Amino acid sequence: MAHSSVVIEARNLAKQYSINAAVVSALRGVDLRIDRGEYLAILGPSGSGKSTMLQLLGGLDHPSSGTVRLLGTDLADLNDRELTRFRLTTIGFVFQRFHLLPVLTAVENVELPMAEAGRPRGQRLARARELLGYVGLASRAQHRATELSGGEMQRVAIARALANEPALILADEPTGELDQATGGQILELFDRLHRDGATIVVVTHDEHLAARAGRQVRMLDGRIDSDTHG
Ligand SMILES: Nc1ncnc2c1ncn2[C@@H]1O[C@H](COP(=O)(O)OP(=O)(O)O)[C@@H](O)[C@H]1O
Ligand SMILES: [Mg+2]
Repeated sequence: MAHSSVVIEARNLAKQYSINAAVVSALRGVDLRIDRGEYLAILGPSGSGKSTMLQLLGGLDHPSSGTVRLLGTDLADLNDRELTRFRLTTIGFVFQRFHLLPVLTAVENVELPMAEAGRPRGQRLARARELLGYVGLASRAQHRATELSGGEMQRVAIARALANEPALILADEPTGELDQATGGQILELFDRLHRDGATIVVVTHDEHLAARAGRQVRMLDGRIDSDTHG
């Protein structure tokens, strides 16, 4: 199939937020194509539009103008229900503050997106355990999220992101809440995921993380300022 290596393609993406009478232009026309297997870091000063871009790429929010095609599907062609479903099965999100459900155990948190996708219980339990093993937390499966350290919570969140075998992993400052050593473990995990074939986009302030990615996109004032490989 033609273009089968393209995971995501954004064209002329723009986003304005209105707060009271004021309008903020968070994105001012972004073009971006990401191919399967790429490991891409998005850098840039606070307020330059990194999180906005990630949310639009992942269909968590709608652009004011422009298009996002994910695996060839224009996200604007989907209604809310279809978009939720498509997101669930194609994208794994990792957030700075983990966003785990505190009352659930680690294994239940990882199972959740599979339950939402309608996978049978036996299957999802086995996969959740396998994924916790992959992130080095097999021994924490029955711990509640609140009983885990920050680094452990983020590793559970990464396992959860992988649950439905996403085509794309989107991470917004995944080491932002962690100390350097713990953040380093998360970076190792992203490196391993990439070696295992994942397509990863990571928003970060961390030049070390960015250097490990094969491609660096730098944002400035709602635009892509540079896009380099190295
Ligand atoms: N939900 C929102 N409502 C209003 N303004 C927002 C919202 N989200 C982001 N912004 C504004 O859009 C700009 C870009 O924000 P953001 O994408 O969060 O940047 P970054 O992630 O690079 O720090 C900033 O000026 C920010 O204040
Ligand atoms: Mg941000």
